[in-house]
Amino acid sequence: MIIAIDGPTASGKGTLARQLADHFGLPVLDTGLLYRAVGYQTQLNHGDPDRAADAVAACDFPDSLLDDPALRYESTGGLASRVSVHPAVRAALFQRQVDFANQPGGAVLDGRDIGTVIAPHADAKIFVTATPEERARRRHAEMRGRGIDVTYDAVLADIHARDARDTARADAPLRRAADAMLLDNTNIDREAALAAAIAFVERRL
Ligand code: C5P
Repeated sequence: MIIAIDGPTASGKGTLARQLADHFGLPVLDTGLLYRAVGYQTQLNHGDPDRAADAVAACDFPDSLLDDPALRYESTGGLASRVSVHPAVRAALFQRQVDFANQPGGAVLDGRDIGTVIAPHADAKIFVTATPEERARRRHAEMRGRGIDVTYDAVLADIHARDARDTARADAPLRRAADAMLLDNTNIDREAALAAAIAFVERRL
């Protein structure tokens, strides 16, 4: 049983992936963390995230980096979206994700290209989304809750920039797979989104 979750930044796909993994007793991989690690390692190396050679050199990051709280920073998300446009970076991270998806017993993965590139044969694919304004509202509230002083307009601008980069890149752009369920959670809460996702997955079992 492979469950593929894709969607734009701040869509709630990470939370949904963890909840589905819990519900179905499956391991979960947040693939964005891998790109975040590469972006962060590029910076640690004093490299330029827009230069493919610098970003590729950073793919050799230590596993311990995946636990670093700095990977969760908004700024690291921006670095991740810059290094992720390089095909050689995507190629370097490919096998690790494929192996996770194909482990015996199955898995849940969330990212941008899980249903289209990493696990096109997944049993259940869900494309999670919400309007940019609603995603910005939620991300802004969450950041303010963590004591980060940022304006709604700055968060919205960042979301638009990330969406543009993730959907416009030539290699593995963010898009809904033809056979993915569209889960727009603009007007529904987490519980309703989870219930809809569980019902969809159960129909695919
Ligand atoms: O999901 P998250 O916001 O942590 O991802 C950070 C960035 O990594 C995304 O904006 C995207 O550019 C990139 N990414 C990707 N493919 C994935 C997961 C993340 O290109 N499967």
